[in-house]
Amino acid sequence: MTDSSKTSEKPWGGRFSEPTDAFVERFTASVGFDQRLYHHDITGSIAHATMLAEVGVLTDEEKLQIIEGLEAVKADIEAGKFEWSVSLEDVHMNVEARLTDRIGITGKKLHTGRSRNDQVATDIRLYLRDEIDVIAEELTRLRAGLLDLAEREADTIMPGFTHLQTAQPVTFGHHLLAWYEMLVRDADRLQDCRKRVNVMPLGAAALAGTTYPIDRTITARLLGFDRPSENSLDSVSDRDFAIEFCSFAALLMTHMSRFSEELVLWTSAQFDFIDLPDRFCTGSSIMPQKKNPDVPELVRGKTGRVNGHLVSLLTLMKSQPLAYNKDNQEDKEPLFDTIDTVKGCLKAYADMVPAITAKVDNMREAAKRGFSTATDLADYLVKKGMPFRDAHEVVGKAVAFGVAERRDLSEMTLAELQQFSDIIADDVFGVLTLEGSVQARDHLGGTAPAQVRAAVARARAALAG
Ligand code: ARG
Repeated sequence: MTDSSKTSEKPWGGRFSEPTDAFVERFTASVGFDQRLYHHDITGSIAHATMLAEVGVLTDEEKLQIIEGLEAVKADIEAGKFEWSVSLEDVHMNVEARLTDRIGITGKKLHTGRSRNDQVATDIRLYLRDEIDVIAEELTRLRAGLLDLAEREADTIMPGFTHLQTAQPVTFGHHLLAWYEMLVRDADRLQDCRKRVNVMPLGAAALAGTTYPIDRTITARLLGFDRPSENSLDSVSDRDFAIEFCSFAALLMTHMSRFSEELVLWTSAQFDFIDLPDRFCTGSSIMPQKKNPDVPELVRGKTGRVNGHLVSLLTLMKSQPLAYNKDNQEDKEPLFDTIDTVKGCLKAYADMVPAITAKVDNMREAAKRGFSTATDLADYLVKKGMPFRDAHEVVGKAVAFGVAERRDLSEMTLAELQQFSDIIADDVFGVLTLEGSVQARDHLGGTAPAQVRAAVARARAALAG
């Protein structure tokens, strides 16, 4: 990147009598990070020039020259032949200066009827819209993988937890579908956010609109926006759409951090519920036995920066007077890092989740160890006429006996169980088994394997549709 500074090189240099301070030039430049907008900047400029020609502000000849020139600049950038200049401050002025180098005076007409203020707002929206579509696809891929795994594990029994203490048996498939539901809401939020991203600020110019006879519906149509924005002041100052995206991302990452936490716990020797393939783990340089769940740990950790970016953007916009302020240049790094982080985390999870293997026997053993069918025994007594509070008491005593004897309720003899209540008969064993317990919760949203399969089928149809 070059930083040769002379007043004449600045597109705004006309009223200045001395060059920009060398440090200030670097301090105020955004080209180091906004060059990633080049593609969308050029797309926006081509649409703008096309519109200007349609309304008669540019001739067709000028329009064609500009479009050809911009395409050539894009090719240079993509071929790595573009020298970005810090003294040209940002992606917009870099591209425009190179255009003028190439095609001469006509290049200087491109900026007619617009400002960098509406230009940058347009570029970010175009860029974010494309990234939203990529993220939506990764989210769909992860959801599809979760459904496959949930279907495969529809019959697998594990302990369900509250307070991280064994509560009641659930199927592993059902647990995975709980994760799935979080992602459904995330995907909905992303599409909702996209609606407000897809509104076009171009034409607001610096803040008040322009005196040229522009037709904003033409540019909006060319760029695939749903509509032009309503108010020019709001158009150049609004960054709500970026905040909304970061808020979607923060919630998604919060969900991913919860999945991660469970995967980390479950791969530990203490739980030993699942296995992650070696290609998603790393070892320790000192402890030869270690296989660490790095991917879930990193995803859990990266939630911090994404949540932080949301707070950065909220704080950036807080108390800003209308309309555009240079503060807004600070929107890009948090937004870009959020996009990169979310894409990386989703890719890692979409690749990894289908490769999770359940250690079925260990899950089952754990479900048995924690007296997870105690509620089923209480429900059994209630169905035989005992008030629930009394049943709770009876089962509590049976559990205490089991703790002392180191035996699950299902491992006691009928006579032993009858010490606690004589209404217990030998049909009790049907409800005390883990299978009996999960199968009994056979209603919409319940953990029974049949319900898990039905939920997977419904979710697949919704995902496809
Ligand atoms: N680099 C600037 C940004 O990211 C572009 C807009 C600059 N506008 C201005 N009036 N200085 O916000």
